Amino acid sequence: MVTIKYNPAGVFLPEHGITPSQLAALSRPLLEARDEVLADAQLWTDGVEVGPEKQPLDAGFHLLPDRLLQELHVLGEKSEVGRIKKTADRLAQELSSVVVLGIGGSYMGARALLEACCHPFYNEVAPTLRNNRPRIYFEGNNVDNDAVHGLLDLLQSDTRRWGIAVISKSGGTLETAAALRIFLRELAESVGNDARKLADSVVPVTGKTGKLADLSAALGCQEVYEVPDGVGGRFSVLSAVGLLPAAIIGLDIEKLLAGAAAMNEHFAHAEPGKNVVLDYVGVCHLMETERGCTTRILSTWGKRLEAFGFWYDQLLAESVGKAEQGALPLTVVNTRDLHSRGQQHQEGVRDKLITNVVVEQPGRPPLEIGASDRDQDGLNSLAHKTLPNVLSAALAGTNQAYREDNRPTADLIVPKLDEFVMGQLLQMMMLATVLEGRLIGINPYGQPGVEAYKKNMNAILRG
Ligand code: PA5
Repeated sequence: MVTIKYNPAGVFLPEHGITPSQLAALSRPLLEARDEVLADAQLWTDGVEVGPEKQPLDAGFHLLPDRLLQELHVLGEKSEVGRIKKTADRLAQELSSVVVLGIGGSYMGARALLEACCHPFYNEVAPTLRNNRPRIYFEGNNVDNDAVHGLLDLLQSDTRRWGIAVISKSGGTLETAAALRIFLRELAESVGNDARKLADSVVPVTGKTGKLADLSAALGCQEVYEVPDGVGGRFSVLSAVGLLPAAIIGLDIEKLLAGAAAMNEHFAHAEPGKNVVLDYVGVCHLMETERGCTTRILSTWGKRLEAFGFWYDQLLAESVGKAEQGALPLTVVNTRDLHSRGQQHQEGVRDKLITNVVVEQPGRPPLEIGASDRDQDGLNSLAHKTLPNVLSAALAGTNQAYREDNRPTADLIVPKLDEFVMGQLLQMMMLATVLEGRLIGINPYGQPGVEAYKKNMNAILRG
């Protein structure tokens, strides 16, 4: 059952928008693109060798949630999900902190899940408020000397044991590999160079072969998880890449997969007009081609979806930003960014489609503004209004202001933030991205453009 709704009413504008009939006319191409995406998943599952026009075909992410759930059902604790949970529970018992080393698709999904589903001050609150799970830190996603020093300071000041989850599909990404060396050195010292303890404190997630797989074997790591073949980095959040960190912080990874499987079902069967993936892509595509809206603002309301937005920025940019095509994704967090980017969205160049991501139910009871004996701030008239009331008013007021100036908006409405909904949302965006790629004739898989900087950096470092 899919609970996410998409409301495109704000793009049907007399000027600068599109019409419902334009959207309806796109149904056939959208359905053809969907057929191709579904066929890709099948080709991949059947292991069919595809022609060069389809390569690379990293469609393995699509049916992965269904496959993992089925395997869990049959094999229980011995399944991959069962093993991930066991490792995560062991780490939670033995370690006070876990450093997740990874970059790009190897960490952004985990970060999105942490921010969406956990306490907003997860690392700082008393352990009971994070269900006695370890603190979590993300590194290896840059080469920032001072940031690494800062984290080492923090870990050194903790007398309890900490550990590393190192995630790299290729196993050769320099940022992650360099960080691993530094943190491994520190970790070895902190466990008194006890090789067994060191191996138990490091859990790698990597491809079948590669430098990290070799290093894991050399260290004697017992629990090593695989990034499955045919699952690209930015599509890997629902593999061990995202599931292991999610399980470490105590999230219900089965629910996450169930949400994604529900989205697969919805995507495959719901008709245009009732299909959140098809409708979202249809609107984004028409606004870009008919109205030149080449900037896609993902406007998240409240703070908990910022990292999800960054995950999506990468997903869209690396997937369709090819052959001098592809819209520019940009995440904003409101109401915060109404005070920074809002001016430009209201009156700047008309090249933007704003998609609001609205969470209907807050995770905690609504806080009232409250009455005060001193009313210098003049808020007593709003005493019974709550923070969610203010957020809703800000959203409605902003949408109204955009509508009055014919600025297109659409709403993606999620009922609440939990594992099931996040599973739906992540899978929705991955499906939308490959669907759009097929619609515009761009292979959404692979990221050849990222290789150029890596080649140059290595040549400069080693030259
Ligand atoms: O989407 C991608 O493939 C990339 O963003 C990768 O996730 C990123 O470059 C990290 O690669 P790796 O996991 O091989 O270290």
